[in-house]
Formats: sequence, C-alpha cells, structure tokens
Amino acid sequence: MSGHVAIDDISIRYSARRQSQLALDVTRLALAPGTFSAIIGPSGCGKSTFLNAIAGFIPPASGEIRLDGRVLNGPCADVGVIFQQYALFPWLTALGNVKFALKRFKLPRAELHRRALAALEEVGLASLGHHYPGQLSGGQKQRVGIARTLAFEPRVLLMDEPFGALDAQTRGVMQDLLLRVWQKHRATVLFITHDVDEALLLADRIEVMSAASGKIIRSYGLSQLRSAAGAQSRQCRFAGYPRRNSDTAAAAGFAVLTQCTAGCLAS
Ligand SMILES: Nc1ncnc2c1ncn2[C@@H]1O[C@H](COP(=O)(O)OP(=O)(O)OP(=O)(O)O)[C@@H](O)[C@H]1O
Ligand SMILES: [Mg+2]
Repeated sequence: MSGHVAIDDISIRYSARRQSQLALDVTRLALAPGTFSAIIGPSGCGKSTFLNAIAGFIPPASGEIRLDGRVLNGPCADVGVIFQQYALFPWLTALGNVKFALKRFKLPRAELHRRALAALEEVGLASLGHHYPGQLSGGQKQRVGIARTLAFEPRVLLMDEPFGALDAQTRGVMQDLLLRVWQKHRATVLFITHDVDEALLLADRIEVMSAASGKIIRSYGLSQLRSAAGAQSRQCRFAGYPRRNSDTAAAAGFAVLTQCTAGCLAS
C-alpha cells in the first residue's frame, strides 16, 4: 500500500531582515500508509509550518521528507492540502472549482466532468455544482474544498484546522463526512487541530508538539491511550468530561491526553 511518509529530522527557519527564527525544531515522524494522525500543540508552536513543509511549500533547513521512498522537493500531485480558509475561486462554480484542480492532469473533457461530479457527489453536493462560492455556506464551501482535493486521489491528505471556522454542529457533520471518505479512499491523513476532542474522535494516532520553537514530543496510539485511561481513571480529573459520543473509554482517553499535554506543554 502506498502513502508512506517519512519525515527525517527536519527543522525549519524563517528569515526576515537578516534575522533567522527557528519555527520548527528537529522533528522526526513516520506516517504509515492509510493511517489517520492528528497533531495538537499550542498556538505558534509550528504546526502549520510543519504541514506546509510536508506539502512542499516551505523547504526544510535540515533533514528530508520522503513519500514512498522518494524525496519530496516541492508540491506534488500525490499530496493534497486542505486549509481552514477554503481558497475557492469566487468566479468559478463549485463544479468549476473541482474541475480546475483536475486540469493539470489533462484528462479528456468528459472524464474531467465525470470525475469532478463524482467528487462533489461524494461530499453530498452534486445538486449544488452550479452554485458559486458566494452562494454556499461555510460547511458547503469546505465540502467543495474536500471534493477538489479528493478528485485527484492524493496518496497523502494534509489538513490544517479544516473545520476551525465552522459552528459546532456543522463541524460534527464534516467530521463524519471526512471519516466516511477517508475510509473509502484510505489516503494517509495528517490533521492539525486545536481541539483534543476532535483529535480523539478522528485519529488513530495523536502527535503532541511542545511550545515554540516546537517539535513532536509525545506520540499516542488511540488504543494505548484507552488502556492507559483504564489504569489511571481514578485519578482522572476529567473523567466525567462530556463528550459528543458516549464512548467512555474515549472520554477517559481524553482525560489522560489532556493531563499529559498539560504536563508536556508546561515543561
Ligand atoms: N511566513 C512566516 N515568516 C516568518 N515567521 C513565520 C511565518 N509563518 C509563521 N511564522 C512564525 O513561525 C512560528 C510558527 O508558526 P505556525 O503558523 O507554524 O504556528 P501554528 O502552530 O500553526 O500556530 P496556530 O495554532 O496559531 O495556527 C510562529 O512563531 C510564527 O510567528
Ligand atoms: Mg497554524
């Protein structure tokens, strides 16, 4: 199965006015094909910087990033990115936006149309394909963004707080939708969120970053979290934390993660 991402000791610096700032400290991470990993960490710690480097938008100052053994030196069609801002072309319809993303593949017209429509169907928007972004809600715009990325079937899907701008109810609907399409496509997903609850709901693994200049300092598998929660549940401050789903193991996992994260970030 393809979609193996190896991030080998990358660090990232930004330079401005002859000064250089370390935005991401030396970080190593491996993403197994078809897995769903979330990154959490405090604001400004370098989460977006890390994701942008994997997307090929920022060159690392050291280290390298490989996809299925091939070094990534810039953006490539195997890596799709979805941001919080929808970045749709306002002068193109929903269908037009998805088609635009497919243009570089130089498909025959009928095939281009078929793939774009199928991607919109997958996110439940086929009937609104003729609408312009200005005529769509935030959740609908983000669906177009997801369709636009899914249409070219990337092996890796990078998401930077994609649902951060949505209200709680729409976010829940979008999380379900994302899990559904991911289960079908099985791209390797790296998902940034501020919301520990969202990370627990979606991911198989959670990577925790330290405060700026950040790096990954803890890595949790969900099963590992849940069993740790079983052992520690008595001391869990947040054991009764209300969750959207009624999975008490996940609620306890949340408690442990929150405690660990608080400990890590303070250190
Ligand atoms: N283009 C840039 N030029 C210079 N410095 C930058 C640039 N982009 C980000 N930074 C700095 O790099 C650091 C990491 O920023 P980054 O956006 O990666 O953080 P983040 O973890 O995604 O934060 P948030 O959770 O608020 O989105 C910050 O100190 C930020 O000010
Ligand atoms: Mg960010």
